[in-house]
Amino acid sequence: MQDKAQLLKETPTDHPITDIIENRWSPRVFSDTPITATELYSLFEAGRWAASCNNWQPWNIVYGIKGSEAYDRIFDCLDHFNQQWAQDAPALALAVMDTKNPDGNNNFHALYDLGQYVATMAIQAQSMGIAVHQMAGFDHEKAKSEFQFPEQYHFTTAIAIGHYGGDPSKLPDDLEEMEHGKRSRKPQEEFIFNGDYVKRADIQ
Ligand SMILES: Cc1cc2nc3c(=O)[nH]c(=O)nc-3n(C[C@H](O)[C@H](O)[C@H](O)COP(=O)(O)O)c2cc1C
Repeated sequence: MQDKAQLLKETPTDHPITDIIENRWSPRVFSDTPITATELYSLFEAGRWAASCNNWQPWNIVYGIKGSEAYDRIFDCLDHFNQQWAQDAPALALAVMDTKNPDGNNNFHALYDLGQYVATMAIQAQSMGIAVHQMAGFDHEKAKSEFQFPEQYHFTTAIAIGHYGGDPSKLPDDLEEMEHGKRSRKPQEEFIFNGDYVKRADIQ
């Protein structure tokens, strides 16, 4: 059963935003409810409809559901910090970009497009009560060689996927603490410009 209290981590927004975005966060515990292939296909399908430069769609996903060989192979690529909590994630994935466009030239927007793919997946997941927790902490080269991708592909992020509602008390103390409290962001004044760039230190 999904614990509703876990779904909401306080998000102190400065302006109104839609609930799906306000309620999304990146937990390190998940409910025991397994993730099904059907649910994953909906997440991957949502990403598929993201915008991309020239519609080149440079995104690739490797995934595994807990209990499968693919899952264990992805898990073995995670760093120690992420293995501590992701060991109970119902599904794991790797987000991979093709760095070349179909002409064989570098696609300078591939990373941007892959980010849009995963962000779109995360929004779809949120609408289904599913959390998507992205990770930079994994061995990118090991993953590329493990899954036999050609040279032009870059393994960018690992992703833990599961229903919200896990028990934070099963985490090591330092990680448990991160499951509580407010989410935080820089104020808009620090990064939105209605004209010339203003150095952050100059902002009152
Ligand atoms: C590209 C990327 C890499 C990240 N790497 C890690 C990671 O290795 N381990 C981890 O626990 N969280 C990781 N995170 C999660 C961020 O710490 C988290 O998104 C951020 O603190 C904001 O929290 P929120 O998603 O709950 O709003 C990563 C997120 C992104 C987008």
